[in-house]
Amino acid sequence: MKRIGVMTSGGDAPGMNAAVRAVVRRGESLGVEVYAITNGYKGLVEGEIHRLTSNDVGGILNRGGTMLFSARYPEFKEKEGQLKGVEQLKKHGIEGVVVIGGDGSFRGAQSLSNHGFPTIGVPGTIDNDIAGTDYTLGFDTTVNTVVEALDRVRDTAGSHGRVLVVEVMGRDAGDIAIWSGLSSGAEAIVIPEKPFDINQIIKDLKDGFAEGKNQGLIVLAEGVMPAAELVRQIQEVDHTFNIREVVLGHIQRGGQPTARDRVLGSSFGARAVELLTEGKTGLCVEVVDEEIVTNKFDDIFNNLKHEPKLHLHELNKFLI
Ligand code: F6P
Repeated sequence: MKRIGVMTSGGDAPGMNAAVRAVVRRGESLGVEVYAITNGYKGLVEGEIHRLTSNDVGGILNRGGTMLFSARYPEFKEKEGQLKGVEQLKKHGIEGVVVIGGDGSFRGAQSLSNHGFPTIGVPGTIDNDIAGTDYTLGFDTTVNTVVEALDRVRDTAGSHGRVLVVEVMGRDAGDIAIWSGLSSGAEAIVIPEKPFDINQIIKDLKDGFAEGKNQGLIVLAEGVMPAAELVRQIQEVDHTFNIREVVLGHIQRGGQPTARDRVLGSSFGARAVELLTEGKTGLCVEVVDEEIVTNKFDDIFNNLKHEPKLHLHELNKFLI
């Protein structure tokens, strides 16, 4: 294989640049030319393709976002779009492609592979919601960003004797909420994977204030409900709390990647190119027990299940 493409797709995630850099530089070391496909599947279909050299990826390792830009492009679910994509790749002499993204991006990657085009996936999403991997690229940075934000809101909550409900991202997964909530000593962590008891949350908050705490922090995964709705439900049962909601929003997706995400991105990117040069397709690089492994897209979608670390959610209940 002499020429491959690399693209980022879906929501950007810190560490994507590290993966792009590794694809280019590991590619060059294997004698493979790398081409950038910008703006995800939209750019692919529209032929936004240009050569990337080692110099082009200098100085991006420590930068958040993605230098290749990204887009959500549901049109790629249609066969017509997929075939146009394959046509564009072939027109540029590209023989294999690395797709860095989340669940939706992998569906697109799987379809390219099913059309006979060699494709390898790299799990890049802050949500950590891809089956078969312990961590996705960007998750660690996002958790650290959220923890910093939670430490800050706790300061102000404590100054006013308030309860703050902080809504964090994660789509349908509670991983960001679990890890950031445990790391900041949240009085409650509300996630989609576990039913919650509003009376228990209220009791825990009240007990906390009675024991001398001057604030309460509830970390709420966006997949459960909006923060304003949880505030409303709490007030419906008990209107005595001085309570506010905070929605952290896209601040969670930006910023310099942590060392962990830089290492993960570098390892994923390099391995993805190696797999293409070994003639592999339809696979995703993942990490299990600190080892880089591969899984088929088919297994990721049909046979494996993403499990958030519910024992950490359980543990938090003993620590408040
Ligand atoms: O998948 C990453 C993510 O940030 C989710 O956590 C969130 O639900 C979604 O993307 C937001 O998407 P957008 O940036 O398109 O609004």
